[in-house]
Amino acid sequence: MTKILLTNIDKPDQASITKYRERGGYKALEKALAMDPATVIDEVKASGLRGRGGAGFPTGIKWGFVPRTAKPTYLLCNADESEPGTFKDRILMERDPHLMIEGMAIACYALNSHLSYIYIRGEYEFVANIVQKALDEAYEAKILGPSLLGKDYGLDIFIHLGQGAYICGEETSLIESLEGNRGYPRIKPPFPATHGFLASPTVVNNVETLAALPWIIQNGAAAHAAIGTEKSKGTKLFSVSGHVNKPGVYEVDMGYPLLDFINNEAGGIPNGRKLKAVIPGGSSVPVMTAAECEGALLDYESLLKAGSMLGSGGMIVLDETTSMPETLSVIADFYAHESCGQCTPCREGTGWAAKILKNIVAGKGRRSDVDLLLKIADRMEGKTICPLADADVMPIRSFVTKFRSEFEALCSS
Ligand SMILES: Cc1cc2nc3c(=O)[nH]c(=O)nc-3n(C[C@H](O)[C@H](O)[C@H](O)COP(=O)(O)O)c2cc1C
Ligand code: SF4
Repeated sequence: MTKILLTNIDKPDQASITKYRERGGYKALEKALAMDPATVIDEVKASGLRGRGGAGFPTGIKWGFVPRTAKPTYLLCNADESEPGTFKDRILMERDPHLMIEGMAIACYALNSHLSYIYIRGEYEFVANIVQKALDEAYEAKILGPSLLGKDYGLDIFIHLGQGAYICGEETSLIESLEGNRGYPRIKPPFPATHGFLASPTVVNNVETLAALPWIIQNGAAAHAAIGTEKSKGTKLFSVSGHVNKPGVYEVDMGYPLLDFINNEAGGIPNGRKLKAVIPGGSSVPVMTAAECEGALLDYESLLKAGSMLGSGGMIVLDETTSMPETLSVIADFYAHESCGQCTPCREGTGWAAKILKNIVAGKGRRSDVDLLLKIADRMEGKTICPLADADVMPIRSFVTKFRSEFEALCSS
């Protein structure tokens, strides 16, 4: 199994620039700076790297949408990481922050961006302190600042702390928040590539996406494209939690078998219990039954075929003791709480779904409530400004249809 991101995560004190440089850190940036920016973009395109924030959009193609205009271009690193079950970016920033910073510098150079922000979730204040220390070290070493590694190219990177809103992880909401406004998602188009931060061309990339860049530049696009499956290239971080013996963050090649991941990397299910279900990509992807997990591989296409999605790689493992109505009720509460309220179907739908589920769990539901949940899901799906409503629809629909008898068993008539 190849390691691109977690090569040094378990060794002590890897967050310092000294250790990072000892193991070849910032050599990839040096190599990128000797290349033409367009060649760097071509290299990222050829690597097959897809955004690790959830949607899996090809990174090089996204960069290619950015026009060269008189306006400044911005790169925003999305470190909001608020999706329940997801904690992979935290490990990267906490243990190896220079990897992300080097990736950001490579991306900025390719995009002709001289000012960049890292938007870190507010609860990660201690992580922000580690990243700030790493930025200070990079400035002191003259890697950042007016002259990127001695080249006539200036770059500044600043941290911006979020204030605890999940919606600010959505890229246009993140941009609004960074501009000092309320974190309301924008209607697209226009897309951030042309009208983003301060109405200028902007790229928003996830921490893990950016952290993969130094390896790609150093080892070449072909080496990256050789890892994984035909359409899902490279490695992927999975943060695994729930009923496993070894919860944590693991890096595997795209296409690695899901059940092997649970049994080998995550140490299997405790107390000899049976697997009941898996949420493979964060709370907003469809839940998979144990039967659907058989033969499923951890890549974008395979998980889609198996009835779910790769999402952010926040895997939640549920054993046979799990109450599916109670689990869905917790998830639905989260989305009701986090809806920004701009769109009626989302504001009302997430709230009603959460209330109905609470009633069902309390034994006060009616059998017709189970279908009502599906009706609410139908009325929310695809009818809102951002995908948060759909992120509630996917768990509701999958839990209710795949485990319907458990919901009905709690209802009185
Ligand atoms: C409600 C919502 C929350 C999101 N939260 C995050 C997040 O915490 N981190 C992230 O990288 N992307 C998040 N995204 C996806 C971003 O909008 C965007 O697609 C991503 O940052 C792009 O980076 P990538 O191309 O590197 O994946 C979220 C999307 C939605 C709809
Ligand atoms: S879908 Fe929900 S979170 Fe997204 S903009 Fe509409 S109300 Fe806000």
